[in-house]
Amino acid sequence: AETVADLCEDRELVVASNRQPYSHNYEGETDDRGAIDVDRPAGGLTAALDPVMQAVEGTWVAWGDGDADREVVGPDDTVAVPPEDPAYDLKRVWLTDEQVEGYYRGYSNQVLWPLCHLDTAKMTPREEFWREYRETNADFADAILDSTDDAGSDPVVWFQDYHLALAPRRVRNARPDAFLAHFWHIPWPSRDVFRACPQYEQLLDGLLANDLVGFHTEDYCRNFLDCVEAATDARVDRASSSVSYRGHRTFVRSFPLGIDASRQADLAESDEADEWWAEFSETHGIDPSDTLAVGVERLDYTKGIEQRLAALERFWADNPERRGEFTYVQKGTESRSGIEAYDRLQDRVAAEIERINDRFGTDDWTPVIYTTDHLPGAAIAALYREADLGLVTPVRDGMNLVAKEYVAAQTRDPGVLVLSELAGATDQLGDGAVLVHPYDTPGFADGIAEALSLSLAERRTRVADLQREVHAKDVYEWLESTFETAAAVERGRRSLRQS
Ligand code: F6P
Repeated sequence: AETVADLCEDRELVVASNRQPYSHNYEGETDDRGAIDVDRPAGGLTAALDPVMQAVEGTWVAWGDGDADREVVGPDDTVAVPPEDPAYDLKRVWLTDEQVEGYYRGYSNQVLWPLCHLDTAKMTPREEFWREYRETNADFADAILDSTDDAGSDPVVWFQDYHLALAPRRVRNARPDAFLAHFWHIPWPSRDVFRACPQYEQLLDGLLANDLVGFHTEDYCRNFLDCVEAATDARVDRASSSVSYRGHRTFVRSFPLGIDASRQADLAESDEADEWWAEFSETHGIDPSDTLAVGVERLDYTKGIEQRLAALERFWADNPERRGEFTYVQKGTESRSGIEAYDRLQDRVAAEIERINDRFGTDDWTPVIYTTDHLPGAAIAALYREADLGLVTPVRDGMNLVAKEYVAAQTRDPGVLVLSELAGATDQLGDGAVLVHPYDTPGFADGIAEALSLSLAERRTRVADLQREVHAKDVYEWLESTFETAAAVERGRRSLRQS
């Protein structure tokens, strides 16, 4: 919070993201809606930013959804949060059904998501998706401008992610004085892939209105600079990793996102984790002597769940002695349902698991335990803690925080992280993990065997190295380095103005 306060001083901090940090819901059903409940921040980012926002008393602009969200806001669409001790404003942007369809489900999730994850065959660049994306970005920009109207000069606006690529340009046009930063939470593709998107120039134009653009890895920064160089008349300065475009300079930097590692370790050692595990292992007949692997993710085609199931099937086929004692637990969370690619994936994963269980399962052993239930953080931490292997094998992923959570939760008998070469997290965790290629089924199955063969001493050394990294580069360090860099960029900008 101090680093953030340094940059913000007398200036207002506005964070803008698609998802909101608090959502309001009716306790009852439609007929008798009852009192209003507040759902707390679930993700690592919101959990980390929330205390910062409380400390600097800023404004968070995000998509508000549903009648209860509407009921609690004032005439300016804001509600003070957290509810028990209001410290900052949550300003809600209301979306029409067309906007949800076109901006969120359409352009964000069926154009930008597959594009940035190098799956251009899944891109659906419909005209109306682009129209709604543009309009919604304009609505977000207007809400930001609204909330900075009565602030002193130079507001600081921090945009999150691919939903808001165009909003910075509109904010910049209205407030040339504002300091604008953007963090892109997913990969940035190479220039030949990026050009598959018909609106590639407009997207770059939007992002280059920022003073600072952040990515998880150096590779994504390089890809971004390549795209800018190929598609615009901007001047790219590789030495300073910056771009001069339309009279404005944008710095491009990598800030690998981290987790709250200490909290994850505490969760793994909590009574709630112990209780949950006792019940879960009993229900599923898991003995302490069994070997366990775990996968935890949203049901998204980028996560490589089908490829992982193929590798596990190969492993059980090649190692019959492991049947009956090596079990895989897949926790899947339904995500983006209603989009065809996601609905199909959900069906295929369920069908594959059923087929594998039919092939190898016995009366007293189920090879793949599958749950889509909502699990509290302590339950997930218990799964990580108990698993001998953490299988984190996306076919493409900006960072992947599950890999970091798994590492932080190894508080007892240390397990092995089996990590995809194609995850952003590999830059930081590749040395201590067993690396696999998600599409190389036999190699992946061998990787599982290799991970299971590591001695206790080897596992301890690897986990100690990985934990050092995950704790040193946690989400607070991420915030600090982002804001330190932002402050340095801002100092440069001011001295330029004065000279
Ligand atoms: O980085 C991608 C991301 O926005 C994550 O922050 C988040 O976990 C995920 O996608 C959620 O997607 P959605 O908001 O579409 O449910």
